[in-house]
Amino acid sequence: MDFVIKTERLVLRPPLESDAKELFELMADDKLTQFLTWEPHTTLGTTLGVIQSLIGAQQDGKGYHWCVCLENHIVGLVSLIDVKRNIRTWVLNRAELSYWIGSNYQGRGFATEASKEVVKFGFDTLDFHKIIIAHAVENIASQRICHKLGFVPYAHEHDAFFKTNKWYDLIWYEHINNTDNGVD
Ligand SMILES: CC(C)(COP(=O)(O)OP(=O)(O)OC[C@H]1O[C@@H](n2cnc3c(N)ncnc32)[C@H](O)[C@@H]1OP(=O)(O)O)[C@@H](O)C(=O)NCCC(=O)NCCS
Repeated sequence: MDFVIKTERLVLRPPLESDAKELFELMADDKLTQFLTWEPHTTLGTTLGVIQSLIGAQQDGKGYHWCVCLENHIVGLVSLIDVKRNIRTWVLNRAELSYWIGSNYQGRGFATEASKEVVKFGFDTLDFHKIIIAHAVENIASQRICHKLGFVPYAHEHDAFFKTNKWYDLIWYEHINNTDNGVD
């Protein structure tokens, strides 16, 4: 399967071990991680380990990851994570969208442009029926992206995660592939 996606300004492609240095420079930034599940990276080895786990997840069909590249430089990462295809006899075919864009590249529409095409790829090529996403209530930029991409809010989860001395609420959204009737 060809995972390379081209958008108007960007090329999205799976991460490679050789991206470690470039990704480390972005992921070492403490301005990026306030609402993320990880802390700023402090060693190149941490970034390399993360890349290896992303590649492994992709090989196992558990998650799909794209480096967001602008003129051959990585500016962020967009992913479809936590893939769930079935629970016993139930068909789920769902994944969760996640994204970050390096601080120096934010505010230029890159997260919206990249995520829109990843959602489309998720529906059209990876055969997901539903894609979900959650953002912290305080994360207004992510809220804007969810609305612009057509995600529909379905739950307000209280005290969803604890980070830097505070419990955060999450707003959960879903996006359904209405062209997929579940029959192969
Ligand atoms: C959230 C994030 C990915 C947005 O990336 P981006 O490339 O700057 O996003 P875009 O430029 O595509 O769009 C951002 C939207 O949010 C708005 N926005 C950005 N910062 C904002 C802020 N502080 N307050 C209000 N709105 C804001 C922009 O105006 C834009 O909306 P508009 O098109 O209606 O004007 C980026 O800020 C980021 O990586 N944050 C840290 C990681 C993170 O929070 N990831 C999401 C976890 S759910």
